[in-house]
Amino acid sequence: MNKTIIITGGAGFIGSHVVREFVHKYPQYHIVNLDALTYAGNLENLKDIQDFPNYTFVKADITDAGHILDVFRHYRPNGIIHLAAESHVDRSIADPSAFVMTNVIGTVNLLNAARDIWKDDYRGKRFHHVSTDEVYGALGDTGLFTEETNYDPHSPYSASKASSDHFVRAYHDTYGLPIVITNCSNNYGPNHFPEKLIPLCIHNILNNKPLPIYGDGKYTRDWLFVIDHAKAIDLVYHQGKDGGSYNVGGFNEWQNIDLVKELCKQMDQKLNRPEGTANKLITFVKDRPGHDLRYAIDATKINQELGYQPSVTFEQGLSLTIDWFLSNQVWLDNVTSGEYQKYYQEQYSK
Ligand code: NAD
Ligand code: TYD
Repeated sequence: MNKTIIITGGAGFIGSHVVREFVHKYPQYHIVNLDALTYAGNLENLKDIQDFPNYTFVKADITDAGHILDVFRHYRPNGIIHLAAESHVDRSIADPSAFVMTNVIGTVNLLNAARDIWKDDYRGKRFHHVSTDEVYGALGDTGLFTEETNYDPHSPYSASKASSDHFVRAYHDTYGLPIVITNCSNNYGPNHFPEKLIPLCIHNILNNKPLPIYGDGKYTRDWLFVIDHAKAIDLVYHQGKDGGSYNVGGFNEWQNIDLVKELCKQMDQKLNRPEGTANKLITFVKDRPGHDLRYAIDATKINQELGYQPSVTFEQGLSLTIDWFLSNQVWLDNVTSGEYQKYYQEQYSK
């Protein structure tokens, strides 16, 4: 194996797809999945590749600077792809501290460890920071986020991600650390943790529970199939310009209410239930504080510079996602037992 890449957060939703993509596509790379296995981390997501010779799992918490340095000195990676994060906006509203610790301090610990092992000799090295479009704040009814849009985060989650992006750029500008940043729109797909809108609604439809829509449901998000995000990360990691950032998206905006209705329609068909059954579960609930009205990515740069294009339409991706959840109900049952019940109760009983 001629290269070692540490992928942080590889046991989570997006990270597990990135790990799988790299393990399969690059047998000559040693892929080290570094993850603390929080509530969102699940090694079940990687059962199919866990015995591959080019894959290693290391349990480590990125807030533990000493341990991270030991792991980096041991594996001496050429590349880092950093996805580990606290990722759910509603949890950040309930308790921002963990978001500061993991997303800000944890990222700085990784940057310091990379500098330590690379000793300012950066040939063949790269630190790829995976971020979100939420750092740009909220759009009105028109316009798109470009790479030049000013940062204007509103939630504790997006503030912590914006801060981590700034640190990554600062290490490039100050120490010359070779970095790239990707800012992606909302992802969906297999292994999505059911605290987020789409898997939460799939889980609730299966259990005939209300589908909680915040406010009037007119909030808009731009959705990308998770495997298409993993492919974009591969492309930018290998071909993105040093110090650059790339927005990742598929020009696919949906108002929450329309998206949930499309999901209900597909679920009724797949479950052989009369049309309109799932729709009856739609329930408007109290809005999220500081709720960003609209996110929409201008993905022109990654398309024109690197030739990136998503591989599936939203309808195809949603269908694949529902099929995955229907075939993996044990996975869903496992992640929704225990702590999830307490979270759900606290989040939705207000
Ligand atoms: P996730 O919550 O599903 O997974 C996060 C992973 O990070 C988990 O495996 C968890 O165990 C691990 N982790 C958390 N804290 C850690 C710590 N202190 N040390 C080590 N590991 C830790 O998140 P996701 O949705 O897969 O998001 C991955 C990344 O992509 C995040 O950085 C997120 O900001 C970014 N992102 C997510 C989306 C989205 O729609 N989900 C969109 C754009 C960008
Ligand atoms: P979410 O999946 O939490 O992603 P993000 O907040 O990062 O965009 O939410 C997507 C949209 O769905 C967002 O506008 C909030 C809304 N939403 C609901 O209406 N009800 C819910 O129960 C959840 C979790 C989200």
